[in-house]
Amino acid sequence: MATQMFEGTQHAAVYLKYRFAPGKELKDIILAYLQEKAPSCTQLAVDVGCGSGQGTAFLADRFAKVVGTDISQAQIQEAKAAPSPPNISYLVCPAEELPFEDGSVDLLASFTAAHWFDIGKFMNEVKRVLRPGGCVAISTYTIDMSLHYRDCSEKLTQIFREAWDQLLKYSHSRIKHVLEDYKEIFEALPFPDKKRITNIYDKIPMTVAGVVGYLESASPYQVFMKNDPEAAKTLLPGMEKRLLETMGAPSRDTPLEFWVRHVCILGHKEA
Ligand SMILES: C[S@@+](CC[C@H](N)C(=O)[O-])C[C@H]1O[C@@H](n2cnc3c(N)ncnc32)[C@H](O)[C@@H]1O
Repeated sequence: MATQMFEGTQHAAVYLKYRFAPGKELKDIILAYLQEKAPSCTQLAVDVGCGSGQGTAFLADRFAKVVGTDISQAQIQEAKAAPSPPNISYLVCPAEELPFEDGSVDLLASFTAAHWFDIGKFMNEVKRVLRPGGCVAISTYTIDMSLHYRDCSEKLTQIFREAWDQLLKYSHSRIKHVLEDYKEIFEALPFPDKKRITNIYDKIPMTVAGVVGYLESASPYQVFMKNDPEAAKTLLPGMEKRLLETMGAPSRDTPLEFWVRHVCILGHKEA
């Protein structure tokens, strides 16, 4: 069931359009860790649960080859159709059975996806495919999100959270990992040299339409749509109307800033 959450073709298209890539703060933390722990490991990075490639792209500057993997055919189709650097490729496979040789991967990354995996089996794969001295970076954004626009940020954030609270009722049990800041996933990482950072804040330039689209792409919204389509269809236009009224803005293309807190687990396999 969890693995089917992102498989709809329409959902994959919404996902590609509205899901944001890791912001500067998160990217800098991962790149600095790689520089510190594994400066010469630059051959192969794998992004597991890559969706339509949101986190895959920035790895292409540092690694000779980057492979994005996802269990969803529809997500990989969208990833392949989007423009990307020539050293990135994508393939469909489960996180629990990665088609890479033992000790062949320099960086194993996963962005906002690990909570959907069978954690025990995934960690066995992390241990198997990473080369000695290689690194792992597993992150997620949390539900700690806020909207920022002129002097009405507090009110906008409250409107956004009210919509989120409605959606959270439809969230899958695995979202508990996100709500616990990936504590259990951190504990399951089988390397002694590891750390978990829970206070990474990205400030993402967005529009009101982008905020609405982000919620539409969220897995609880997809469940809400299936269970109660009438109520689901009114939730987001209602939120959008309130946001625009509060901002005094004429258009859903009005820019605002979306702040989101990330958690990131970093680990280093002994050389
Ligand atoms: C919330 S999306 C994250 C996508 C992207 N990494 C991002 O940062 O936006 C989670 C992704 O994990 C994938 N996924 C879920 N279970 C999986 C599994 N067992 N193996 C591989 N991918 C999986 C889903 O298909 C989905 O594309």
